[in-house]
Amino acid sequence: MTSLITETRPAPVCGLDTWVPVAAEIISINEENFNTLTFKMRFVEETHRENYRFLPGQFNMLYVPGIGEAAISISSDPEETDTIDHTIRVAGSVTRAIQQLDVGGVVGIRGPFGRGWPLEAIKGKDVVIVAGGIGLAPMRPTIYSLLRNRKDFGRVMLLYGCRSPDDRVFAPQLDQWTEDASIQVLVTVDNATGGWVGPVGVVTNLLQRIRVDARKTVVLVCGPPILNRVAAWQFLQLHVPPEQVYISLERNMNCGFGRCGHCQYGRKFVCTDGPVFPFDEIAEVFGKKEV
Ligand SMILES: Cc1cc2nc3c(=O)[nH]c(=O)nc-3n(C[C@H](O)[C@H](O)[C@H](O)COP(=O)(O)OP(=O)(O)OC[C@H]3O[C@@H](n4cnc5c(N)ncnc54)[C@H](O)[C@@H]3O)c2cc1C
Ligand code: FES
Repeated sequence: MTSLITETRPAPVCGLDTWVPVAAEIISINEENFNTLTFKMRFVEETHRENYRFLPGQFNMLYVPGIGEAAISISSDPEETDTIDHTIRVAGSVTRAIQQLDVGGVVGIRGPFGRGWPLEAIKGKDVVIVAGGIGLAPMRPTIYSLLRNRKDFGRVMLLYGCRSPDDRVFAPQLDQWTEDASIQVLVTVDNATGGWVGPVGVVTNLLQRIRVDARKTVVLVCGPPILNRVAAWQFLQLHVPPEQVYISLERNMNCGFGRCGHCQYGRKFVCTDGPVFPFDEIAEVFGKKEV
């Protein structure tokens, strides 16, 4: 069976001139944890606000003049078309420069780029979302979409792990989703600080707590490489077919639209063929070092 991904991608906001960033203003900043902030941004020009659409799992290239660009997932609700959220952890020069901006600051945006999660094609399936740390960022638009179209899917489960309770991103939403009977939410931490009474241990341990009907389950994974590897492996062991296990990969990006070759991964470009891949498409290189 081939990939379930069939969605038509929205056009980049910068039109055909895909190298030219479009200005967006920061309208609010939310502190997620000690090194991660969510920036709500709005395009300065109304035409861009009207035309910009994205699919859950896609990313933008964010530009800070004089510093450079970084690939950042879109973390807002795709139905919220006036603004776009980016949840950013400091990794190096660009992310640090963005974190130093205040409300009213302006960044450049190119995008949306890439292939998102196959939400249309997986209708009728049970969906297990596995996320680690900031890997919940590209999952949040997905969860909003799944909940909005809840009757189109079977059981929906979210397994989320992070270092400590204070490291959670989107903590208020996690609490809200936990209260929502239409999604099963399990959160685990490596270190149970501050009176944490929930599960402790790596996120893949949570698999023991859910029921997986292998043939009708689709798995969506986003986290650090070790989590991606272990989660994919465990679901394959449970006989979930490889074309139903999707992983969002990170690679060093430059152009974002398949021209420069920076993001090459085996025979694929992560910026255009991914970042979301069904396991069968990347099986030959997945988990290998120096690919
Ligand atoms: C599809 C996709 C989606 C992404 N989504 C998000 C997201 O939603 N949020 C987010 O925060 N990130 C996201 N990333 C990751 C982000 O693009 C990278 O972390 C990016 O490299 C950050 O750019 P930067 O200039 O801040 O860091 P860079 O300068 O590129 O630094 C990146 C890495 O290099 C190391 N490094 C930097 N400078 C040095 C140095 N002088 N010596 C040694 N090591 C160094 C850093 O420690 C870090 O590990 C995503 C990446 C991809 C591909
Ligand atoms: S980032 Fe240029 S080809 Fe992917």
